[in-house]
Amino acid sequence: MCGPPPTTTSTATAAPEQPPITPQLGDLAPDFIAETSDGEIRFHEWLGDSWGVLFSHPADFTPVCTTELGAVARLHDQFAARDTKVAAVSVDTAESHRAWSPDIAETQGAEVNFPLIADPDRRVATLYGMIHPRHDNTATVRSVFVIGPDKTIKLTLTYPASTGRHFGEILRVLDSLQLTAAHQLATPADWQPGQDVIITPGVSQEEAARRFPDHRVIKPYLRLTPQPARP
Ligand code: BEZ
Repeated sequence: MCGPPPTTTSTATAAPEQPPITPQLGDLAPDFIAETSDGEIRFHEWLGDSWGVLFSHPADFTPVCTTELGAVARLHDQFAARDTKVAAVSVDTAESHRAWSPDIAETQGAEVNFPLIADPDRRVATLYGMIHPRHDNTATVRSVFVIGPDKTIKLTLTYPASTGRHFGEILRVLDSLQLTAAHQLATPADWQPGQDVIITPGVSQEEAARRFPDHRVIKPYLRLTPQPARP
């Protein structure tokens, strides 16, 4: 016998939504296989030994996204000079990405020259925590992940749907990350390529004298040196 339903004095509440799990700095970048505007991508295999930038946009055929993808297409040679492969992702289909691409070329002055990942089932978006339900329950936010040749996450950024990103800043971060990887150098606030860089604290003074003969010691913990040329 079932009996009457249990009485309750409070309205039913859903379990609190869990925040998206976004990979953090140092984590292994999740691998995936997906369709793109240019065919299938096996993400880690596609990255190879290169650096990578994976960035999400909310939706195809939207104004801010159109300008962003055009900006990245125009920077193709800059990313290539940094041995960096770029891919974009949204919850749209590959067919939609292909249909949208001519508009980007027409309005932004550059053909899309990188894969647009299709993610209609949100697998990639979920792996990377790109849907922030209290901002937008269905579309990806503007996430950026920089991935090193070791496939770990080197940078995360999250912008709201209404703010287009400054992709020159992503290039600047790549320059900084690559200085750290190659030379144990860091970059100061507002650094621009060509300006002096910082010798990281892990480098002894003896080693600094040997490797960076033109460096100057402002404080024992603040040592500056001219930026070395890219290898
Ligand atoms: C855009 O790309 O223009 C856009 C997309 C979603 C929300 C707001 C703006």
